[in-house]
Amino acid sequence: MLNFTFHNPTRILFGSGRIADLAREIPAGARVLITRGGSSVERNGTLAEVRQALAGFTVFDFAGIEPNPTCETLLQAVELARRERVDFLLAVGGGSVIDGTKFIAAAIPFEGDPWTILSERAPVRQAVPFGCVLTLPATGSEMNNGAVITRRATQDKLAFSSRLLFPRFSVLDPAKTRSLPPRQVANGIVDAFVHTTEQYLTYPVDAKVQDRIAEGLLLTLIEDGPKTLSDPEDHNARANLMWTATLALNGLIGAGVPQDWATHMLGHELTALHGLDHAQTLAIVLPALLQERRTQKREKLLQYAMRVWNLRDGGEEQRIDEAIARTRAFFESLGVPTRLSDHGIGADAIPVLLAGLERHGMTALGERRDLGLDCARRIYERAC
Ligand code: NZQ
Ligand code: ZN
Repeated sequence: MLNFTFHNPTRILFGSGRIADLAREIPAGARVLITRGGSSVERNGTLAEVRQALAGFTVFDFAGIEPNPTCETLLQAVELARRERVDFLLAVGGGSVIDGTKFIAAAIPFEGDPWTILSERAPVRQAVPFGCVLTLPATGSEMNNGAVITRRATQDKLAFSSRLLFPRFSVLDPAKTRSLPPRQVANGIVDAFVHTTEQYLTYPVDAKVQDRIAEGLLLTLIEDGPKTLSDPEDHNARANLMWTATLALNGLIGAGVPQDWATHMLGHELTALHGLDHAQTLAIVLPALLQERRTQKREKLLQYAMRVWNLRDGGEEQRIDEAIARTRAFFESLGVPTRLSDHGIGADAIPVLLAGLERHGMTALGERRDLGLDCARRIYERAC
């Protein structure tokens, strides 16, 4: 196992009716800005419940954070928060709203152009505290300190993190996910699945607990993901899905193990240039990347084949092929396509995607930092 420091200060309030408890988590007298996306939280009653729980606080509202949140929109919230001297943020929504709120939290006290936090990795020295009410299990943003922000003007989609940007608390009420359309449920399953493989399908370091937890998360997604889609009333499946997605990216399974993240980086270019949903990009890149990197990932792929897909017969190459085929079939079974051509994107798009990777410094990716632009090109080609 590798050395690690693990610290996760986010308090989780899990289960039905827990929104009512959030007032206790916010300092008395706080001036609270609710941040949210479109109308989903209004339509499913979450916003009304949040407002009721916040009775007694001074509350402001900022709506309109889009999926793949943009710096352009978020700066409007920063302006509002500065003007109204907001001292607590409450994100109500999915990963985009939470990520956007992390940027707002860092940008409010930031001197200079907040975009440099992403473009130049300018350090975050202060941040306004914030909490979350999660409505879409997928990103893990509700229990981690990272965020991915897009700048529309330049089509950049970049990630940043800071130890000041863990949510103070997150409310996870599975019932609040009942209104999700199948596409977003499926996206969430794929995202959590790929977060797990980014930290698991690398090379072995004898990290037994991390491996077993990762395999448990993958098996739960394979079991309860389809159940949630086929029976929206299955509350237990929803609850399992929600907690699985949080655990997939809260630092636990990534502690002390090598991490890849190339699938995500190749995927971010696809979102920035072609507007695909985050998880749609992952479903396309992962099977292609696993084929391309099967030698480097050989031992873990064999472990994955056996422990996740129960593949015990046949030669090693055959089992790896079958594990990759099952992964692709699983994504497809959720209704998430796995080829660029399914989105009308052809091989002619690849040079621009590669130029994006280069511009963003993504030229030495993977768990051994040996995945360069040539390899990225082969992965995109395989994904056609
Ligand atoms: O905008 P509203 O009206 O709220 O609708 C949203 C949005 O259209 C809707 N939705 C959310 N909860 C709902 C609901 N609709 C009905 N009922 C509900 N309960 O779902 C749509 C998508 O929401 P979004 O927040 O964009 O989805 P997701 O949670 O998948 O977040 C994706 C973003 O997170 C980033 C991605 O890059 C992408 O920008 N990621 C963040 C990570 C992190 N911070 O650790 C890691 C991830 O790898 C990922 O990169
Ligand atoms: Zn992701």
